[in-house]
Amino acid sequence: MGDCSSDGLPGGGDRMTAALNADQITAFERDGFLVINDFADLDTCAALRDAAGQLVDAFDPAEVRSVFSTQSHSYAADRYFLDSGDAIRFFLEEGAMASDGALDRPKHLAINKIGHALHTRAPLFRDIANDPRLTTILQQLGQAEPWPVQSMLIFKQPGIGGAVVPHQDATFLHTQPVSVIGLWLALEDAGPDNGGLFVAPGGHRGPLRQRMVREGDGAEPRTRFATVDETPLPSYPNDAVYVDIAAPAGSLVALHGLVPHGSTTNRADVSRQAFMLHVVDRAAQWSDDNWIRPA
Ligand code: FE2
Repeated sequence: MGDCSSDGLPGGGDRMTAALNADQITAFERDGFLVINDFADLDTCAALRDAAGQLVDAFDPAEVRSVFSTQSHSYAADRYFLDSGDAIRFFLEEGAMASDGALDRPKHLAINKIGHALHTRAPLFRDIANDPRLTTILQQLGQAEPWPVQSMLIFKQPGIGGAVVPHQDATFLHTQPVSVIGLWLALEDAGPDNGGLFVAPGGHRGPLRQRMVREGDGAEPRTRFATVDETPLPSYPNDAVYVDIAAPAGSLVALHGLVPHGSTTNRADVSRQAFMLHVVDRAAQWSDDNWIRPA
């Protein structure tokens, strides 16, 4: 068994240098999630934020204004999303867009996320996705052959960064058996005050509730949600099963594909950027009706 050894950082921090220890693996199996402190150093976090900022620099909001205008046909928006699996595409905060698609603030403060192929198309993000430590961690957490299939940079803009309602990642990335693990790298300090994650410990032992399936191939692909199990997901914040996660910049949160989780609206005056990588096991059976068509 490898270990997560400390390299003696000041302040007692443990830089994640090798692999998970037995307690961490046990915690993931028990809770369905694991916070791994100091996976990335602060310089790496800053470089990834800069790289994301450069992508936004080059982005012309007019490209998507017509796509996401509430007056346009939703098909265009569906297509923009469905074709993003092998592309770098830009998704704006609804709260920053007028009905004609015009932005009410600078684009850098209006962007919700970039997705969904940063891990193959953006060099620094590709480096992170190919970090051998990730392969080791994912294998320790049960994947025989980790296969990154989706990535996102989530901005969580100050004041408006939209909430993500409780969900299971296997709803969106399905294999048989369920194998997806979400890796959530905090690029800035994240907590309950600025739109941080909440998770239901142990909730991964419950069933998959629904799947988002792609259908209507050809000219007009679309998605729909199919119920798999009627058991409702606990709601947030009403249901006490959830715990808020404090994830300092550089920490990596691993999420089991069935564990209910989400994040709150960011009401703070600082952003809360995070890089998300979703990885499935190539040894599991990929479901061809997943929304994304990975290369
Ligand atoms: Fe998720």
